[in-house]
Amino acid sequence: MTDMTDRTLTSSGFYVSQEAPIRTDNPIPTPSSPAPDILRCAYMELVVTDLKVSRDFYVDVLGLYVTEEDENAVYLRSTEEFIHHNLVLRQGPVAAVAAFSYRVRTPEDLDKAVAFYSELGCRVERRADGFTKGIGDSVRVEDPLGFPYEFFYETTHVERLAWRYDLHTPGELVRLDHFNQVTPDVPRATKFMQDLGFRVTEDIQDEEGTVYAAWMRRKPTVHDTAMTGGDGPRMHHVAFATHEKHNILAICDKLGALRMSDRIERGPGRHGVSNAFYLYLRDPDGHRVEIYTQDYYTGDPDNPVITWDVHDNQRRDWWGNPVVPSWYTEASLVLDLDGNPQPVVARTDSSEMAVTIGADGFSYTRSDDSEEMPAWKQGEYKLGHQL
Ligand SMILES: [Fe+2]
Repeated sequence: MTDMTDRTLTSSGFYVSQEAPIRTDNPIPTPSSPAPDILRCAYMELVVTDLKVSRDFYVDVLGLYVTEEDENAVYLRSTEEFIHHNLVLRQGPVAAVAAFSYRVRTPEDLDKAVAFYSELGCRVERRADGFTKGIGDSVRVEDPLGFPYEFFYETTHVERLAWRYDLHTPGELVRLDHFNQVTPDVPRATKFMQDLGFRVTEDIQDEEGTVYAAWMRRKPTVHDTAMTGGDGPRMHHVAFATHEKHNILAICDKLGALRMSDRIERGPGRHGVSNAFYLYLRDPDGHRVEIYTQDYYTGDPDNPVITWDVHDNQRRDWWGNPVVPSWYTEASLVLDLDGNPQPVVARTDSSEMAVTIGADGFSYTRSDDSEEMPAWKQGEYKLGHQL
């Protein structure tokens, strides 16, 4: 499925090419209607099963700011945000994602969103007063991949708290950075997102061209969302940015002090993909939250696309640390526009976890090594060095 002729091996161990080297033989048709001009990922609406417990986690532990709240929902924002919220926690019966919401450039882009998704036969709903507090005219769709996507322009402006150092904590979450979605067919999803105007920045493939994950952006960072191969549609994680690495370490220290270390699923560490420093947490419902910092600028139109070998032991963690199995297998359900969980479809392509821990799935640290791992690491080979 992949054209590998145009890629160049770098001294860092990954490949670069000009266009995403991803092809699909099962494309969603490209609409003739132009795509809406998306600015950035803006907020996620999360359904939680115990609002107070979730509020305690996101406000008291992670330090997000409450813009507004009522008995059914809490509207939270990060330090530098000026729109009403980046996260809505809504009380509900099943932990799930109700919306991946994006801000568009103009009010007229909502008309484009309606036309774009209607042409694809998707369910589309528009509310002049919005679906949540603080957000005006909005369009929600069940997209062709099964995800609940939202688009809006109008929003209540609130105070940016960047200068309120008296409020800041050592682990300050300063921006919403990205979403991550689980979908069975990554090339099909990638082609659709390219039609929606996204540009691929990085991907993970094997030598046969199987695509395991792809990262794609509207704002000039590594991503606004990523497509991770797996049973889907599901939500893998929502990510907030800190300014510096030490802020992430402070969050780990705080969780330890609160005897909440079991909330830490993976990390802290340095990603290969995105080059960002990371930490993965699980909220009280198991929704995965990433804390993320220091990826790189991608805004030029000829920004090189990076392709990682799925067998490169450093692609998911630059230090070669293991990826825990739950990180590959567990994710949150997503809802349709009636609030019912979308059915989950199994991935049929190879799974990234299977090819990196399977009997024949070797991984490497140096691609030209004949020995896969030093002898003194062999005892911890499976769990310590292959995932
Ligand atoms: Fe992420």
